Amino acid sequence: IITLVSSSAWYDDHISLREINSEENFSFPRNFLFGTASSSYQYEGAYLTDGKTLSNWDVFTSIPGKISDGSHGKVAVDHYHRYPEDLDLMEDLGVNSYRLSLSWARILPMGRFGDVNMAGIDHYNSMINDILRRGIEPFVTLTHYDIPQELEFRYGSWLNPQIREDFEHYADICFQYFGNRVKFWSTFNEPNVQVILGYRKGTYPPSQCSKAFGNCTRGDSDIEPLVAAHNIIRSHLAAVNIYRTKYQEEQRGKIGIVMNTIWFEPVSDSLEDRLAVERAQAFYLNWFLDPIVFGRYPREMRKIIGEDLPEFTRDDLKSSKSGLDFIGINQYTSRYAKDCLHSACEPGKGGSRAEGFVYSNAHKDGLPLGEPTGVDWFNIYPQGMEKMLMYTTERYKNIPLYVTENGFGENNTGVLLNDYRRVKFMSNYLDALKRAMRKGADVRGYFTWSLLDNFEWISGYTIRFGLYHVDFDTQERTPRLSASWYKNFIFQHRAQN
Ligand code: NOJ
Repeated sequence: IITLVSSSAWYDDHISLREINSEENFSFPRNFLFGTASSSYQYEGAYLTDGKTLSNWDVFTSIPGKISDGSHGKVAVDHYHRYPEDLDLMEDLGVNSYRLSLSWARILPMGRFGDVNMAGIDHYNSMINDILRRGIEPFVTLTHYDIPQELEFRYGSWLNPQIREDFEHYADICFQYFGNRVKFWSTFNEPNVQVILGYRKGTYPPSQCSKAFGNCTRGDSDIEPLVAAHNIIRSHLAAVNIYRTKYQEEQRGKIGIVMNTIWFEPVSDSLEDRLAVERAQAFYLNWFLDPIVFGRYPREMRKIIGEDLPEFTRDDLKSSKSGLDFIGINQYTSRYAKDCLHSACEPGKGGSRAEGFVYSNAHKDGLPLGEPTGVDWFNIYPQGMEKMLMYTTERYKNIPLYVTENGFGENNTGVLLNDYRRVKFMSNYLDALKRAMRKGADVRGYFTWSLLDNFEWISGYTIRFGLYHVDFDTQERTPRLSASWYKNFIFQHRAQN
């Protein structure tokens, strides 16, 4: 499908090959996973097909004003029907893994209040079998933001401790039906983003926001983000526990969690700003990972939040001991963090007075960190990948890492097949990943976001991340330069082994 040779002259004109191949003597381990990543709501469409009910995102996108272009994922890229064609593209790229998520509302349309939807099970069975038939390893996330709306409607989803039983039940069903073939499970995708945007800023469902910890003037509750996070962590622990006790010995898979990461640099060399960086990581990444790995919230959070921080039960702590098999790192962007315990909290892209820091992309001398992309949350700083992987390696004691997402999104600029900025992005971030591996980070896979342009949450279809351009009217997929670049990259890696 893609010709490799034709674009090489083009590279020479646009990108210095030396820049691209600066880590040329490095070879990845033989069983390293190279893949592309997707998620059910962003890809599948078929929103009421074969017994699926509405998810929270189906409902949210139907509320006027929530999505920048007024769009939704009812059809998305129709992956539900077109997955064989999309797997053809993956096979052609030469990937050996595919990271996807399951739609909870397809499998348990009413949560634990109803039956398993066998049509949903059949669908994923066929898909998993097709993936495996092509020599590709499925890397499956149980929930990537979308949950059955029923759980929101009945009891307020993540704000209610009941959700743990629902998640445990759902995880159990997935392990039972798919675990003989799926060897990589992630419980959650980016729960930190889910909580910060869903319960602090109010821009994701269920649109709750908090005055102290968000950018919200309405101020529903300052406790809710902490409660939602706590219920997610407890749900994660319950699912890991079920896998460990009921399935893992026989099925021999691995289970982990996928986090969004931001690499924070201090805005100045002052001690205050360096401590602000610690707080920024505590309130972003360690908020979830510390309890899962160490059984307690990070020190910086305990100090600031005190008694409002929920407590883990003895049972939770027991299951947290069973640990994680890997951490999934989604790495895109980096930010400057600035102390605001001791000085005014200027509005930034994140953080708050309550946490004692704000972060933004502007240094005090006005220069941005890395290169802006035109997408507001996102600037290019490949060193952030290397530093983030080293930080996680050190803090979480060499737990195996997978870069479960990394990729380049551009504002919708028409077809744009010569996506040299994406090629350069991938090449530089992969170089940074190799540097981290040289220094000892145990990275075992890399998934690019994404194979196809798709539904980018509140940005709708206005930001494109695909190695393949998608015409959303005809559903036609057309390779960009980055598809041939990634194919070539994987091919060279294979040749070295
Ligand atoms: C991370 C999320 O997991 C994914 O759903 C999203 O599309 C990408 N970031 C790009 O924003």
